[in-house]
Amino acid sequence: MKYIRISPDDFIKSRKNFFLRLKSCALAIFNSSDEYPRSGDQLFTFKQNADFFYLTGIDQEQSILLLFPDCPNPLYKEVLFLRQIDEDIAVWEGHKYTKEEARNISGIKNIYWIDDFDNILNSIINYAEYIYLNTNENDRYQQTVPYKDLRFIKELRSKYPLHHYLRAAPIMRDLRSIKSDSEVNLIQKACDITKDAFVRVLKFVKPGVTEYEIEAEVIHEFIRQRATGHAYNPIIASGGNANILHYNDNNQVCKDGDMILFDFGAEYANYNADLSRSIPINGQFTKRQRDVYNAVLHVMKEAKKMIIAGTIWNEYHEEVGKIMTSELIALGLLDKHDVEKQNPAMPAYKKYFMHGTSHHLGLDVHDFASRYKPFETGNVLTCEPGIYIKEEGLGIRLENDILITKDGNIDLMAHIPIEVSEIEEIMNSSR
Ligand code: GLY
Ligand code: MN
Ligand code: MN
Repeated sequence: MKYIRISPDDFIKSRKNFFLRLKSCALAIFNSSDEYPRSGDQLFTFKQNADFFYLTGIDQEQSILLLFPDCPNPLYKEVLFLRQIDEDIAVWEGHKYTKEEARNISGIKNIYWIDDFDNILNSIINYAEYIYLNTNENDRYQQTVPYKDLRFIKELRSKYPLHHYLRAAPIMRDLRSIKSDSEVNLIQKACDITKDAFVRVLKFVKPGVTEYEIEAEVIHEFIRQRATGHAYNPIIASGGNANILHYNDNNQVCKDGDMILFDFGAEYANYNADLSRSIPINGQFTKRQRDVYNAVLHVMKEAKKMIIAGTIWNEYHEEVGKIMTSELIALGLLDKHDVEKQNPAMPAYKKYFMHGTSHHLGLDVHDFASRYKPFETGNVLTCEPGIYIKEEGLGIRLENDILITKDGNIDLMAHIPIEVSEIEEIMNSSR
């Protein structure tokens, strides 16, 4: 891991909060992520299961967390099982946690090797009434391949069919959407690294550079500052490519007179930043580019005011839609009369702004949270309006990450240049 170690107090607190939500006489089991095959004998870079990390801080494959606060044997109230280290693993794969290290990271006293899991579980499971197991309940997730949790559930249910099985995910959804101070600090760190990458790019971009050279600048800055890498596939979309919402070929030459849209963010200690900016490749906005840009910026500023505790998702999106509609009319893209006759289920603005304005952010880029709960203090949400005009080869999106506090909100990306004058000044001062 490149990041600086996180205090175990955070994970101790997460587990405490989780215990408070359990029924009595309940046992919960969490698995680390699978190691996914890439090709031949290669694996994809390991990415820890977000819930497992949230409760343990353990960033290693083949690990299991067992929680049983009412366990009659005090040794097994809270147990972590780890892959056994041996010399062979050390030679081929390098460093793995010792028990002592895992104890220091997670704050869990009782650490065993994974080979002991079946026996230990068998010795205590019949003293539990309820068993909480986890699955990926992120409502944007489409299950296409089986994963560790699903295989584990099948196995456990066949061995112990008469226990009451419950879902851990609804508890995790509530807990993870309210960020602790320490989580906010980690997201802020990811935002700070992302800022430096963006400023680096502002100084680098000029007509003739390629999208992939810009991508290389970004990852250089990320890794240099201990980020794990990109939080998601970066979008470096010049000219008309900006109209492809998930463009990430990043293989074109940046042309004089075009804009370029970036959507990238650093992942630091498993926490993510999610930034979008759009800049003129030659360092000078045309009048049209500036007008569209300022329209998006205005929508963003207005939307941010609504990112406060109590706001209801649907109402928020409706309000943002109204503000966007009036901007699109002012830009000559929508006609007032057409808007009056629009189908409320498919408002006219969606032709130019076809995605949502916000999503939760944290251990996942589209973080695990309820779409139906009003915004709450401790939520971190993106704010990302955009206007995409295919016929003009122009797409502009701006995106910042916002923390809701009891007194309003804090823009965790407030220090990242966004005004037209700031962008032009930085781009031109470095030429
Ligand atoms: N970067 C992904 C998103 O903005 O939602
Ligand atoms: Mn986003
Ligand atoms: Mn984004």
